[in-house]
Amino acid sequence: MKENPYDNDKFFAKYSQMPRSVQGLEGAGEWETLQSLLPDFKGKRLLDLGCGYGWHCAYAMEHGAFSAAGVDISHRMLEVAQEKTKQWDQVKYYCCAMEDISFPAESFDIALSSLAFHYVENFSPLIHKIYSVLKPGGTLIFSVEHPVFTASGSQDWYYDSEGKILHFPVDNYYYEGKRSAVFLGESITKYHRTLTTYLNTVLTAGFTLQNIVEPQPPAHMMDIPGMKDEMRRPMMLIVKCIKAAE
Ligand SMILES: C[S@@+](CC[C@H](N)C(=O)[O-])C[C@H]1O[C@@H](n2cnc3c(N)ncnc32)[C@H](O)[C@@H]1O
Repeated sequence: MKENPYDNDKFFAKYSQMPRSVQGLEGAGEWETLQSLLPDFKGKRLLDLGCGYGWHCAYAMEHGAFSAAGVDISHRMLEVAQEKTKQWDQVKYYCCAMEDISFPAESFDIALSSLAFHYVENFSPLIHKIYSVLKPGGTLIFSVEHPVFTASGSQDWYYDSEGKILHFPVDNYYYEGKRSAVFLGESITKYHRTLTTYLNTVLTAGFTLQNIVEPQPPAHMMDIPGMKDEMRRPMMLIVKCIKAAE
């Protein structure tokens, strides 16, 4: 079953307080890296899967995109997105699971997904669908929680008796599937996949890999409490790939 934790009152309230919700893209540790890999949006049709507050739809429109379609399973996230991008008639939102999208073939130039694919159980059919809705030469760029981060499930450090970080657990790496993670103090379902699965799935669908990055926090964010610990293990993975031009 597709879960929808972002519509849960308590979770939504906590998510709304995160720096990435308050400050937007500038508050997201991976943004500088993702931004440096983005294709030119001028005149392009964007599909944003798991668009949340619509920050990336807004960014695309500010950078000359022709249109942006944001898909999200949470109507509460989309209410915020709608408000943030109301100045553009060419931004449309669809409240549905990304696995269920049914856009005509070759409708988009760019498909982007930021930190949402790890909520999807069946990755391969989704990637095949994205391949078909992209035009030849189109780009798929996505960030996900890194397989090292999702493997053991708890997504928390191991601490000593004084609460000092010892290390980050990586366990059950090759057992893909459902994990019960604690995110913002709430138990939430995510799906773990190996690095091989992420990369081979896009290759099998027909994409060519263009970039793979494990983003590190930018130097100017290092003073934020806890940020230096983000250098101890990868938390995110960014993949950029291209559908062959005809
Ligand atoms: C961590 S937030 C990221 C939001 C946005 N992409 C960003 O980077 O600011 C994950 C988003 O994915 C959405 N989501 C989770 N599972 C989904 C699914 N199966 N289909 C569509 N959206 C989903 C959630 O509702 C949430 O808005």
